Amino acid sequence: MAALINKLEHEGARAICSRHGNKPEALLEILHKTQQADSYLSDEALRTIADALNISRAEIHGVVSFYHDYRREAPADHIIRICRAEACQAVGSEALAAHAEEKWLTPTGGVSADRQIGLEAVYCLGNCALGPAAMVDGELHGRVTPERLETLVARRVDEAEGA
Ligand code: FES
Repeated sequence: MAALINKLEHEGARAICSRHGNKPEALLEILHKTQQADSYLSDEALRTIADALNISRAEIHGVVSFYHDYRREAPADHIIRICRAEACQAVGSEALAAHAEEKWLTPTGGVSADRQIGLEAVYCLGNCALGPAAMVDGELHGRVTPERLETLVARRVDEAEGA
């Protein structure tokens, strides 16, 4: 039984709860800090937080599902965000997004099977004059063609792999 309890324990989340005095009113801050540390909120982390704050798992799941900023799955290694707002649509962002979906075999809002690529829609990146605009791992690019997007992503993948 002790082994099972240990397996469900998330040390990082436990430490964050402790720093906040294990107070239920600090739940949002604790969730935020836990996600910052892990990039997402695992089942183990949520169970540990519920235990530390003495709140039900249903309660914590309700809070996590209410706020869209909380992630329940580990994010992809590389995130592509393609602007789908009007100005970018007018210059081809829909075709760019369709190309990306086909190239990385993932729907917008999804993650590729190998979890390497995540594809997201955004609605204006403040780069409207240089559409279609896209972000690759947080880096903004303008006048992005399908070929350029592939090159940008390949570069990020190579950098991450130390090539
Ligand atoms: S509409 Fe795409 S950057 Fe503004």
